[in-house]
Amino acid sequence: MLDIEDLHVEVEGKEILRGINLYIEKGKIYAIMGPNGTGKSTLAYTIAGHHRYKVNKGRILFKGKDITNLSPTERARLGIFLAFQYPIEIPGVTVASFLRTILNIKENISLVKFNKLLKEKMSLLEIEEGFAKRYLNDGFSGGEKKKCEILQMALIEPEVVILDEIDSGLDVDALKVVSNGIKRVFNSNMSIIIITHYSRILNYIEPDFVYVMMNGKFVASGKKDLVNAIEERGYEWLEEVNSNV
Ligand SMILES: Nc1ncnc2c1ncn2[C@@H]1O[C@H](COP(=O)(O)OP(=O)(O)O)[C@@H](O)[C@H]1O
Ligand SMILES: [Mg+2]
Repeated sequence: MLDIEDLHVEVEGKEILRGINLYIEKGKIYAIMGPNGTGKSTLAYTIAGHHRYKVNKGRILFKGKDITNLSPTERARLGIFLAFQYPIEIPGVTVASFLRTILNIKENISLVKFNKLLKEKMSLLEIEEGFAKRYLNDGFSGGEKKKCEILQMALIEPEVVILDEIDSGLDVDALKVVSNGIKRVFNSNMSIIIITHYSRILNYIEPDFVYVMMNGKFVASGKKDLVNAIEERGYEWLEEVNSNV
């Protein structure tokens, strides 16, 4: 599905990603973990095609096609979706109209069809009807912002979903709601990349593969065991293990 080869990325003159290799298969869930400031969000934005992130070396293939130089809109059309860590507030724009605009990037859909689809997805995620009529992110709690992201994901049904710290700032109850929502939307045609600093979301959504990033490189990969090891021992030992190799 998505193939990242030896990716080197620079942000404002500084090299942040220093040779990332990642192969994303269809129908699988990936976790990318790592301490703050190691380049996890940089990787997410680079996959989404944000202009600030400059690829110096390497490439990104989506279903065999080189997308390294495509615009964010073109990538979104292909089916790559990035949920933002800090979603914007747009007073005066309702959740429903925002979602319709987003969906229109991918396909043109009539208002009647859209409303039907929105209703269906909101009931799937057990979101109360009034939510769509509220102004986007205006006075939303952390949990409501994330709910909105999951609803976007449910409507668009992207093939590659990148969730950047979707667990940040959520209490346990909100985390459960968000995790359940993700699980309901996930299907065998989708791949999900969960980027997180903490292991707790991975207790609700079990990843198929886990990667640990430190200083712009992956220093370890594994399965759920690796998450447990990080929970017990933190990150630093991984860097030592890696520098001895
Ligand atoms: N837009 C930006 N402008 C300047 N520096 C940035 C920008 N984005 C990221 N960086 C720098 O890149 C490094 C990695 O950041 P980031 O990818 O956000 O890490 P993480 O998501 O793992 O916490 C940090 O040192 C950060 O200061
Ligand atoms: Mg980040």
